[in-house]
Amino acid sequence: MAKYGYSLMFYRLMISIFILSSSLRCKAIDNDDRKVYIVYMGSLPDDALYSPTANHISLLQGVLQGSSVENSLITSYKRSFNGFAAKLTDTERQRIAEMKEVVSVFPSRNLKLQTTRSWDFIGLHQKAKRNPTAESNIIVGVIDSGVWPESDSFSDKGFGPPPKKWKGVCSGGDNFTCNNKLIGARFYQQSLIKKTTTTARDTEGHGSHTASTAAGNIVNGVTFFGIVRGAARGGVPSARIAVYKACDGGCFSASILAAFDDAIADGVDIITISIGADSPLEYDQDPIAIGAFHGLKRGILTINSAGNSGSSLGSVSSVAPWMMTVAASSTDRRIIDKVVLGNGKTLIGNTVNTFTMNQSFPLVYGKDVTNGVCVENDTRSCVELCINQTAVKGKILLCDRPPLAEALTNATGSIYNKLVSSDTPFVEAAPTSGLTPEDYTTVQTYFNSTKNAHANILKSEVITDSAAPRVASFSSRGPNLITREILKPDITAPGIDILAAFSPLASPSSFSGDLRRVKYNIVSGTSMSCPHVAGAAAYVKSFHPDWSPSAIKSSLMTTAWVMNSTQSFDSEFGYGAGHVNPVKAIDPGLVYENSQEDYINFLCGIGYTEDRIRLIYGEYNSTCHKVSVEPKNFNYPAFVHQVVEDDGSFSVDYKRRVKNVGLANSTYKAKFSPNSKLEMKVEPEVLSFKFLNEEKAFNVTVTGVVESGTIQSSSIIWSDGTHSVRTPIVIFKPIPS
Ligand SMILES: *[C@@H]1O[C@H](CO)[C@@H](O)[C@H](O)[C@H]1NC(C)=O
Ligand SMILES: *[C@@H]1O[C@H](CO)[C@@H](O)[C@H](O)[C@H]1NC(C)=O
Ligand SMILES: *[C@@H]1O[C@H](CO)[C@@H](O)[C@H](O)[C@H]1NC(C)=O
Ligand SMILES: *[C@@H]1O[C@H](CO)[C@@H](O)[C@H](O)[C@H]1NC(C)=O
Ligand SMILES: *[C@@H]1O[C@H](CO)[C@@H](O)[C@H](O)[C@H]1NC(C)=O
Ligand SMILES: *[C@@H]1O[C@H](CO)[C@@H](O)[C@H](O)[C@H]1NC(C)=O
Ligand SMILES: *[C@@H]1O[C@H](CO)[C@@H](O)[C@H](O)[C@H]1NC(C)=O
Ligand SMILES: *[C@@H]1O[C@H](CO)[C@@H](O)[C@H](O)[C@H]1NC(C)=O
Ligand SMILES: *[C@@H]1O[C@H](CO)[C@@H](O)[C@H](O)[C@H]1NC(C)=O
Ligand SMILES: *[C@@H]1O[C@H](CO)[C@@H](O)[C@H](O)[C@H]1NC(C)=O
Repeated sequence: MAKYGYSLMFYRLMISIFILSSSLRCKAIDNDDRKVYIVYMGSLPDDALYSPTANHISLLQGVLQGSSVENSLITSYKRSFNGFAAKLTDTERQRIAEMKEVVSVFPSRNLKLQTTRSWDFIGLHQKAKRNPTAESNIIVGVIDSGVWPESDSFSDKGFGPPPKKWKGVCSGGDNFTCNNKLIGARFYQQSLIKKTTTTARDTEGHGSHTASTAAGNIVNGVTFFGIVRGAARGGVPSARIAVYKACDGGCFSASILAAFDDAIADGVDIITISIGADSPLEYDQDPIAIGAFHGLKRGILTINSAGNSGSSLGSVSSVAPWMMTVAASSTDRRIIDKVVLGNGKTLIGNTVNTFTMNQSFPLVYGKDVTNGVCVENDTRSCVELCINQTAVKGKILLCDRPPLAEALTNATGSIYNKLVSSDTPFVEAAPTSGLTPEDYTTVQTYFNSTKNAHANILKSEVITDSAAPRVASFSSRGPNLITREILKPDITAPGIDILAAFSPLASPSSFSGDLRRVKYNIVSGTSMSCPHVAGAAAYVKSFHPDWSPSAIKSSLMTTAWVMNSTQSFDSEFGYGAGHVNPVKAIDPGLVYENSQEDYINFLCGIGYTEDRIRLIYGEYNSTCHKVSVEPKNFNYPAFVHQVVEDDGSFSVDYKRRVKNVGLANSTYKAKFSPNSKLEMKVEPEVLSFKFLNEEKAFNVTVTGVVESGTIQSSSIIWSDGTHSVRTPIVIFKPIPS
C-alpha cells in the first residue's frame, strides 16, 4: 500500500490514490514555487501580553519577498504550543530558519492514515467491570478523516451533558450536528492539495471506523452482508468523542499539528491518531511526536499506529518514547472464502467475498486473454489495460498478482495469487479469492491439466483460528531506527478484519465503481489496532483518572499477553511487549513511570543540545549538564540492546525503577524467562514496598553472544504472587551491511 492511502483495506487501489495525490501535489507546486512549511517555535511564552498571531505576522513580514502575509500564512498554532504554517519560497524559509526564536522549519509532509468481536478476543467483554461515571467523564480525541455523525455508534441516547472540563466546540461545518456523545468536531484545510474542506463529515470511512473502535456505542445486530454478525462497540462505550479532521485526501503535517493544538486545549484525555509517515523522522521533525509531547505536558497519552510498511525490520515510523505505538495482529475470527475447482478440490482463499456465484464458471488465465498491447509479465498479473474485456465475459480470471477491480469489470470473478499478504483478507468489489502462492500453484496445475477448467468461488464464511493472535505481515516492525534502545512498536492489538462504523459516502472496497454502501465495514491495518489500545488506555484511565501517561502506558505493556515468538520471526520487533489485555492493565501492581524531566533527560542523553530542548519544551530548565541519561537507562518498560561487536559478544547493564500502585505492603521477586543464549542478573532480586506510590530501583545485567541476523528475547517478571509485571528483554545483532 502506497504513500497517501489510508488503511490497508485495499492496498492495490491505494497505489492509484498515491498516483493521484502526487500529481495533484506537483500541480500545486508547479503553479507556485512556494511550499508549505511548518515554522515551529516551541512552547508558548508564559506571558499574558504575548500575542502569538501578531508575532507570527511580524516575523513573516520581515522575510516575505513579494507575497503578502494573507497569501502566505496558513495556520497559527497558539493554543497549546507556538508556531505557524506558511507558504514560503526557499529563500524565505532559510531566513526564517535563522531567526533565534524559531526552533525548526520543516516541510508539511503528507502522512498516511494507516471491529467487533475483537474486544471479546482481548478479554474486554460487554459485562467486564466498569466504572461508568468515570468513563463518561473521559474524552477521546480522534485525529483522522472526520466522522459520520449520524452513525448509531455516535448517538447520544442515555448520555448526560459533556464533562465540565470540556472546552471545545462543535465546528463541524454545514449540516454537522454534535451531541452529548460526539461532543466536538473541527476540520482543517489540506493546504497542499487544491481542495477545500468544508466539513468534519467523513467521506472516506476511516475516521468513523477508528472513532467507533475506540469509544463507539454498543450497537447490536450489526452485520456485514451476513458474513459476520453481532454487536459493534468501542472499548469505552460511555466515553465521549471529539473529532479533529486532519485528513481529507491526504494528511498534511500542518493540519495534524493544528489538530493537536486544538485537542490539547479543548481538554481531551486520550488522543488516538492512526496516521504516520513512511519512515521514522527525528523527534523534532515529526509532527505527531511534537504534538504528543505537548499533550504529555497536560497529562494526555497519545496512541499512534506503527504503520503498514511491514514486514521489513526497521520499518516502524512511530518512534518517540512518549507515545504508545501499536502493531496489528489477528483475532481468532478469520474470514475466508473457498474455491471449489472442477476436479472437486477445495482451497481456502483469504478474501472478504460478499458475492454468491451459484455455479461454476470457466477459468481463463490473464496471459491468454490479452488485447495484445502488453508484455507477458503484465498479462499474467492481469494489469487492467492488458485484458481483453470481451474475452473474459462469463469467465473467472486467473492472475499471478492481486488484480485491480478495474480489470474485473467484465469478468465473472477472479482467482489470484495473494503473495505475502495472504494473512489479511480485504473486502473485494467482485467475486474473487486470493490464495497463498502454494494454493495458487495448485489452481495453475489443475488449469494446465484440462481444456475446460472451471471453478466456483463461494461467499465468505468465518472460521476459528486457534493460532491467533499473530502479527500481520503488513504491520511495521522495529527496531527503532532513531533510538535503538527504545522498543517500538510498544504493543500489538487486533488489526485484521475489524468490523466498525463506516461512511455511507465511501464504498466498502474503496473502489469507486463499487456502488455498495454500508454502515459498518470490515477493514484491516495498524489504523484499526491503534484505537483498540486507545480504548484500552481510556478504560485504564477510567479506573485511575490521576495516573500519568507513562503509568498508563506501562500498565498496558507490563500486563500484555505473551505472544508466541515462533509464530512471528521478528518477535518483539513485531509485537512489542505483547498483546493488549485491558482488564489486567487496570491492576498492574508496579509501573515504570517517567516524568517530563525524564523525557528531557532522555533527549539530553541522545545528544539534543540544551538550547534545542529549552526551545522545544519551553518552561523546563534544561539539566543536561547535571544528568545525562544514557538511552538504555531511560525508565522504559523494555530492555533493548543492539550488539555491535564483530564476534557477537556483549554485556549491557540497565538501571530502572518501579512504582508501587498495587498493595501498600508487598514484596516482589524477580525472575527471568529462560533463553540459553543470554545470561541475566538483577540486583536486588527482591523489592519490598511499605506504602503506595513508593519507588524502588534495580539494575539488570545481560551478557552473552548473539549471532548476526538474530533476535534473542527474554523478559524480567516481578511477581508478588498476585501481580506479574513483565518487561521484555531484546538483544539483536543486525546482519552487517
Ligand atoms: C444533512 O446530512 C444528512 C446525512 O447526509 C442528510 O440526510 C440530510 O439531508 C442533510 N441535510 C441537509 C439540510 O443538507
Ligand atoms: C445467485 O443466486 C442468488 C439468489 O438466487 C442471486 O441473487 C444471485 O444474483 C446469483 N448470483 C449470480 C452470480 O448469478
Ligand atoms: C478480444 O476477444 C474477442 C473474443 O474472444 C476477440 O474476438 C477479439 O479479437 C479480441 N481482441 C483483441 C484485441 O485481441
Ligand atoms: C513482473 O511484474 C511485477 C509487477 O507487476 C514485477 O514486480 C516483476 O518484477 C515483473 N517481473 C519481470 C520478470 O519483469
Ligand atoms: C465491459 O463492462 C463495461 C461496464 O459494464 C461496459 O461498458 C463495456 O461495454 C463492457 N465491455 C465489453 C467488451 O463487453
Ligand atoms: C502450466 O503450463 C505452463 C505452460 O506449459 C507452464 O509454464 C507452467 O509452469 C505450468 N504451471 C504449473 C503450475 O504446472
Ligand atoms: C507456539 O507456536 C508453535 C508453532 O505454531 C506451537 O508449536 C507452540 O505450541 C506454541 N507455543 C505456545 C506456548 O502456545
Ligand atoms: C528554573 O530555574 C529557575 C532559576 O534557577 C527557578 O527559579 C525555577 O523554579 C526553575 N523552574 C523549574 C520548572 O524547574
Ligand atoms: C506486611 O507483610 C508482611 C508479610 O506478609 C507481614 O509480616 C507484616 O506484618 C505486614 N506489615 C504490615 C504493616 O501490614
Ligand atoms: C545500580 O548500579 C549502580 C552502579 O552502576 C549503583 O550505583 C547502584 O547502587 C545500583 N543500584 C541498585 C539498586 O543495586
